[in-house]
Parts: sequence; C-alpha cells; structure tokens
Amino acid sequence: MKKIVIAIDGFSSTGKSTIAKKLAKALNYIYVDTGAMYRAVTYFALNSGCIKDGLLDSKRLINALPKIHIEFKYNELLGFAEVYLNGANIEEQIRTLEVSQYVSPVATLSQVRKKLVQQQQLMGEHKGIVMDGRDIGTVVFPDAELKIFMTASSETRATRRYKELLERGQNLSYEEVLENVTTRDHIDSTRKDSPLIKADGAIEIDNSNLTIEEQLQTILALAKSKI
Ligand code: C5P
Repeated sequence: MKKIVIAIDGFSSTGKSTIAKKLAKALNYIYVDTGAMYRAVTYFALNSGCIKDGLLDSKRLINALPKIHIEFKYNELLGFAEVYLNGANIEEQIRTLEVSQYVSPVATLSQVRKKLVQQQQLMGEHKGIVMDGRDIGTVVFPDAELKIFMTASSETRATRRYKELLERGQNLSYEEVLENVTTRDHIDSTRKDSPLIKADGAIEIDNSNLTIEEQLQTILALAKSKI
C-alpha cells in the first residue's frame, strides 16, 4: 500500500496530537509531535541560563543550538514516542505552564526553526508519517498528500487544556490557561518566519462539537482516499 505524509496544523489545544496519535496507530504510521521539539528547546533554554529573569537571551540560545540533541523513543506502554533532550526523557517536564509561556517566543527564532525543520523533514523522508504542528503543511511538507487544519473556539480549547493540566496534577486557574492559549496563538500566527496559517489545499475541521471518534473517522476516510 502507498504510504503518505499527513500534516496536521492548527491553533493551540485543538486536539491535534490526540487525533494524530490515533490516526498513526490506525494506519501503522510514525507520529511526530513537533510542538514537543520546540518545547524541548525551550526547556533547554530555561535550564541553561538562556532564559533568565523572564527574559530570553536569543543570541545565547542560538549559540547553544549545536548542543541540543532531540530524539523520540517509542514507549510500548504509552503507545507513543516520548521526547528526549540530550539523552534524558523530558516528556513530562515540557508540559508545564512555564514552558508553555516561553515556547512561542523561542519558536519565532529562525535559527531554531531551521534546525528543527531539517530534523522533521528527515523523519518524514520515507513517508508513512503523521506530523502535527503549526507549519507542517506550509513549510515542513508543503507537498504532503493530506493536510488538515484544525480549529475550535478559544474557550473550547482552553477548557480542554485546563482539564489536561489538572489531570497532570498542575494547579492552575482556567484564566491562566486561557491567557496562555490566546497569547501563544497570537505570537504563532503573527511571527515573520513560518506563521501559523492554513496551508494551500488544507482541509479545515472545526472540532468544537465533534467527538474524538468522529474526527478520527473523518480524517481516516480522507487518508484512505489518498492511499
Ligand atoms: O503543539 P504545542 O502546543 O505543544 O506547541 C507549542 C508551541 O511550539 C506552539 O505554540 C508554537 O509556538 C511552537 N510550534 C511551532 N511550530 C510547530 C510546532 C510548534 O512554532 N511546528
């Protein structure tokens, strides 16, 4: 059977990764969470003095980029690949509000994007991949056979993220989460390099009122029509 590239882009907390993971499982494809890669760079920045007293020292981070090695390793128990930074599993550490607050400014840096996009393109060179992010259909794989653009209202998204963070044991207010989602969306869609926009040929899915199963079946049917 022909293998394809499936690019899923969209705003924060639209449930992209939930669907992408299930889709990859159903098709026996690799799943890559590119947001985790930008989060890993941000986690590195926070722990290496590149972000200090709330300020990002872009020059210092750019100089340190060769020291950042990101990889994914499949976890049989969880059923998906976890992200590693320089050999250490940081899957849990990158999901904090602190990382979420700095990740969008870090992701505006072209040198950071260049490094991560190169790695992402290598991961998808043999196709059979589902990748989610903000620039997959526009920059990483502009020729992807299937491009999805996920949307949902900001309240729906903040509620989802809030529940997810509570389940992870993080004690935050709904307002803090809504503020973070809105700020990130603004930075992500207005940055100069690779802003979040709907790619040419992308199919838009507003999932505010769709169950996970409904979304999965819709995208699966679209994928099967291309295989
Ligand atoms: O997907 P997630 O919400 O974990 O992504 C975190 C952040 O990483 C986004 O808000 C965005 O700033 C950045 N990102 C990006 N390009 C991607 C994936 C994520 O700029 N392809």
